[in-house]
Amino acid sequence: MSSLNLAPSPAEGGTLSHWQGLIHHYRSWLPVTDETPVVTLFEGNTPLISAPKLAERIGVKGAKVWLKYEGANPTGSFKDRGMTMAISKAVEAGKRAVICASTGNTSASAAAYSRRAGLQCVVLIPEGNIALGKLSQALIHRATVLAVQGNFDQALELVVKIGETHPIEIVNSLNPFRIQGQKTGAFEICDQLGRAPTHHCIPVGNAGNITAYWKGYNEYFDAGRTESKPKMLGFQAAGSAPIVLGHVVEHPETFATAIRIGNPVSWKQAVAARDESGGSIEAVTDEEIATAYKMVAGEEGVLCEPASAASIAGMIKKAEAGYFKKESKHHDRIEIVCILTGNGLKDPNSAIKHSAAPIVVPAEMGALLEHIHLA
Ligand code: F0G
Repeated sequence: MSSLNLAPSPAEGGTLSHWQGLIHHYRSWLPVTDETPVVTLFEGNTPLISAPKLAERIGVKGAKVWLKYEGANPTGSFKDRGMTMAISKAVEAGKRAVICASTGNTSASAAAYSRRAGLQCVVLIPEGNIALGKLSQALIHRATVLAVQGNFDQALELVVKIGETHPIEIVNSLNPFRIQGQKTGAFEICDQLGRAPTHHCIPVGNAGNITAYWKGYNEYFDAGRTESKPKMLGFQAAGSAPIVLGHVVEHPETFATAIRIGNPVSWKQAVAARDESGGSIEAVTDEEIATAYKMVAGEEGVLCEPASAASIAGMIKKAEAGYFKKESKHHDRIEIVCILTGNGLKDPNSAIKHSAAPIVVPAEMGALLEHIHLA
């Protein structure tokens, strides 16, 4: 074998594929042409990780739970799927600058892809309510970071006004190319499982992602790639649950700051996804989110950010209410996918707050051994 051949032979355990990003892989499903300059960090192709411990909690024999680990995207969240499309199309249209309002992940992604493309990037974040990792990303990628003394909804209203009156491209999920890119998450799940799951659990904030996944599942189904579509089970934080309550929440609250949103842009589309799929959008409390956040890290070895854990909290809540048991009467299998939208490293403060503190010990064997209890 030549020393430059980096792909291991089958005898060495398979081949390494050279994934070149989701536009490259799903090109025929996306509104791009040969003229579109593809701006990519090789996002997508994220792991679908089985979660046997969580599956035991479903209350149905043989039920399977999978975690779609979107934290493995280049900037650590699902936003990269939409951003590769939005930034590529902005460059194609000759735009020089982009703007977004963000609870953190969109700003990190917009900042990174803008750097890649040489575009100016302006991000509006709610002052004091963004996780440390996300803020660091926007700053290091040289975005103009404006910490607005208000919440996400107010920041987004301002962005829309600026976008209407200035030559700057909005890259929030009201940009249709964001949804186009994000729908590839559904394609990947179907390609990885070999079929559609029966249930899809997802956190809901501005509601772009639930909209995008539903679009993706429908496109694969309509093209005959899959024989079924999942029920869409969306979850909002109880203090920020406008869709559940049926009205705008003026002062949204939750420690899951990524989904601290009171007036989602894709509200109608989320309701359509819920109703067309026969699913639901429900609220989970901060306590339930925190429990799920600790459980998935502590039992499955998978660290997500608090907002992502809303999908697991919701799944467990529904399992405990007997929902999947009832569902198993209409399905020959229960196969649940939870979207873990963001990497837990984005929010180290939450991880530390929800864990025991390190044990401080003198640098002596005896002192160490007092704390090491081997089974
Ligand atoms: N999970 C995470 C980690 C997020 O960052 C977001 C949204 C969501 C879930 C909800 O997705 O808005 O499509 O319903 N974050 C946006 C942002 C609002 O600015 O980063 P959604």
